[in-house]
Amino acid sequence: VKNLRLVASRSGGATINTFDDLRSLAARRLPRMIFDFVDGGADAEITLAANRSSWADLRFDPRQLCDVSERDVSQTLLGQHIDVPFVLAPAGLATVVHPAGELAAARAAGRAGTIFVVSTASGHSLESIADVATGPLWFQLYLWKDEQVVAGLVERAEASGCSALVVTIDVPMVGKRERDLRNGMSLPPRVRVGDAFDTARRVRWLRGLVTGPEITFANLIGVAGGDSATTIGAFVDRELVDPTATWDRVGRLRRQWDGPLVIKGIMSPADAQEAVRCGADAVYVSNHGGRQLDGVAGVGEVLPEVVDAVAGRAEVFVDGGIRRGADIVKAKALGATAAFGGRPWVMALGADGERGIDRMLEVFRADVDRTLALLGRRRLADVDGSVLRGHLAVRE
Ligand SMILES: Cc1cc2nc3c(=O)[nH]c(=O)nc-3n(C[C@H](O)[C@H](O)[C@H](O)COP(=O)(O)O)c2cc1C
Repeated sequence: VKNLRLVASRSGGATINTFDDLRSLAARRLPRMIFDFVDGGADAEITLAANRSSWADLRFDPRQLCDVSERDVSQTLLGQHIDVPFVLAPAGLATVVHPAGELAAARAAGRAGTIFVVSTASGHSLESIADVATGPLWFQLYLWKDEQVVAGLVERAEASGCSALVVTIDVPMVGKRERDLRNGMSLPPRVRVGDAFDTARRVRWLRGLVTGPEITFANLIGVAGGDSATTIGAFVDRELVDPTATWDRVGRLRRQWDGPLVIKGIMSPADAQEAVRCGADAVYVSNHGGRQLDGVAGVGEVLPEVVDAVAGRAEVFVDGGIRRGADIVKAKALGATAAFGGRPWVMALGADGERGIDRMLEVFRADVDRTLALLGRRRLADVDGSVLRGHLAVRE
């Protein structure tokens, strides 16, 4: 056994080197219903796949012998410097995945040196997340039916020290998540008799569910009928989303909030123009991770058109299907100011709690660093279309 070393490993013997490793581990540790809630998209999941392929289909154009001994993956967005070029996108009710939920995300983001965007629909309250956060927090807002609720949340975001407001505009209705329908996924989760075996095997998750906080929208307790709704789903449909909303609402919000304003859910150059006209500091290209309108293009296809339309008047963010450091570099190459992601941190949380998120950020950071070296580039901030084959023209 001279050449055989037994290595004590965390994470139940699994080594984690990729997002897929985290996803596999989460699939083992979470009940099917919870895993699918995170993993799944809307309808036929065409857009979910298109997001992935819109990055995977881009090809690099590397240069060699460029002295890449010193590299820098850090960057700045909306005046904030981050050490790991990947921002944790807002995801509601992370507490269904792990009781530490958004607290774990805030701590891990702070440790790694990036930003965490707290969802309106978070499972821990904004104030309790701000209490444990060591890095910058942003707050994500939906355009609620009741503008008083919005005003109240904006005040709380300010009082909690959130340094930017992200308004999500792609939910006039909740998308049709077919896996959730098939699995009988409800919020809070209820275990169907037929699924009891699957759930009981996930001992660690069950323990978290029993000992953890109540699964609820912690920011909305006592607000707008949040307590009286029988299920969270009913509450979301009834109160959270407002199909009557128009760009005027964004304009009004702009007058309430002095800090940086980000408009999330942009999938067309025309809407990017509207967002800039309403005073957005950043336009956030996203199709909600393929969870809303299915059949819309992959984000990487739309990003260059939005970058052109914005023409430097605002920063441009992107999320959807970013699963590797190379995807982050490609997003920069297409003109994005910064890359964000939801499932990477939520899956990591399901796989291994806070440590899982630490590991995800470590892997992404190392991936970007190696990709830069192999491309013959030193600084992520300097990456442009010239790192992609055939994309030089796009940047002209
Ligand atoms: C479980 C889950 C919950 C989400 N909840 C929210 C939310 O509350 N608000 C929001 O603006 N976006 C929400 N999103 C969308 C993410 O912010 C982000 O746009 C999406 O996850 C990006 O795609 P990716 O998961 O492929 O990175 C959620 C996504 C997931 C997977």
